[in-house]
Amino acid sequence: MVSKFWNAEIETMPRKKLEQLQIERLKKTVEIAMGSPFYAPKFKELSITPDSIKSIEDIRRFPFTTKNDLRSTYPFGIASISLDRVVRLHSSSGTTGNPTVILHTQRDLDEWADAMARSMYCIGLRNTDIIQNTSGYGMFTGGLGIQYAAERLGALTVPAGAGNSKRHVKFITDFGTTALHCIPSYANRLAAAFLEEGIDPRNTTVRTLIIGAEPHSEAQRKRIEELWGAKAYNNFGMSEMCGPGVAIECREQNGMHIWEDNYIVEILDPDTLQPVPEGEQGELVLTTLNREAMPLFRYRTRDLTSILPGDCPCGRTHKRLARFQGRSDDMMIVKGVNIYPIQIEKILMQFPQLASDYLITIETIDDNDEMTVEAELAQATDDYGLLRNLSKEITYRLKSEILITPIVKLVGKGVIPQSEGKAKRVNDLRKNF
Ligand code: COA
Ligand code: AMP
Ligand code: ZN
Repeated sequence: MVSKFWNAEIETMPRKKLEQLQIERLKKTVEIAMGSPFYAPKFKELSITPDSIKSIEDIRRFPFTTKNDLRSTYPFGIASISLDRVVRLHSSSGTTGNPTVILHTQRDLDEWADAMARSMYCIGLRNTDIIQNTSGYGMFTGGLGIQYAAERLGALTVPAGAGNSKRHVKFITDFGTTALHCIPSYANRLAAAFLEEGIDPRNTTVRTLIIGAEPHSEAQRKRIEELWGAKAYNNFGMSEMCGPGVAIECREQNGMHIWEDNYIVEILDPDTLQPVPEGEQGELVLTTLNREAMPLFRYRTRDLTSILPGDCPCGRTHKRLARFQGRSDDMMIVKGVNIYPIQIEKILMQFPQLASDYLITIETIDDNDEMTVEAELAQATDDYGLLRNLSKEITYRLKSEILITPIVKLVGKGVIPQSEGKAKRVNDLRKNF
């Protein structure tokens, strides 16, 4: 009989045994991380050794790791092993400050592909599927991460990449694509592209969508499912943890199983950093258990979610994460790209022609998410040639920094509304929740 699991032993492992596996893997991970110039002194100070780990609760003795730690140790300061064993890196956007860099050994890549293949299998994809990927290849982990996993699954894979919706339409039509990986907002854009061609997406061969990488509501998922006449499954990934393949919904579509053989999951109050009761919302904090180039301990994801109580009828024993409800920092995700307002501010401040006020507006226009950056001019001018060149240069510099193309509007002094207290810099008009 064909199994409904990719790895039945791991996916349905009784919780006690799973915990035992986590303890063993945590010990092993500590041993590896003793080679990290970042973690080794911290472990020494806190008397953390593999032998000192007796239960999963020992995780509370570990220090937290933050994105700032990744930035301040840029590029290789957290690595646990020597670079000759590292075969790939992925990096976040940005040139104004230090981006974050994540390193992988061949084993890390293999385990990552396996975890994402397991996720694909979990939603019913098989080697008979034709999987088309709309994520950017290169530094975005949604590109290569999905690619290697789909190949591991044995599916026919179409690495079409981001952009050029007409080409996606043609590929889906010509190749008979059965599954799409895309961010939820792009699922809408691509459906619109089909309709522009006079094709109803429901009449295509697409039956499954893997959607993730940005927050979206249950209503948005339903809309996508109706538009496509297909099932859309929420998928959570994060470059620091590997990329896609951290957690996915099963066919029950009720919470994302987080693969606990690979991660220790904590949900903490973002202010006190103390655990919240099961079912309550807090910040997701993850410890990697199956990575060697750059294990991370108690990594503060900044994503707000909760653990769904109870067992899942699918038989998988791994905990389920609720749909994400936002972040405990000011990171925005636009067109599948993570952007911090400070990145935009730093670029704007490089232009002496600008004053200090600016406003970022994000909205959905014609099924495409767009960002408008209004920046205040230091001095009024009606030299339109100068204004045009200036806004072109700002657009170019912003695009290099944040990877998407904003609409730049230069405005006179006093046009940007002033708010009392802390300036409001971001106006997100998308309805994600
Ligand atoms: N995925 C795939 N294609 C996307 C997209 C996304 N998230 N967002 C926009 N696009 C498409 C647009 O529809 C457009 O194609 P079309 O006009 O043929 O429909 C094309 O990309 C360019 O979009 P535009 O909004 O003009 O470009 P931009 O310069 O602002 O952004 C992108 C450029 C799309 C290349 C950049 O946003 C990107 O690389 N996004 C993908 C990020 C990603 O893969 N994240 C996955 C993380 S797992
Ligand atoms: P990246 O490291 O570029 O893959 O981005 C990771 C971030 O994307 C996460 O920390 C989340 O904020 C966001 N993200 C990824 N998957 C989802 C999802 N399914 N729902 C909501 N947000 C997501
Ligand atoms: Zn399930």
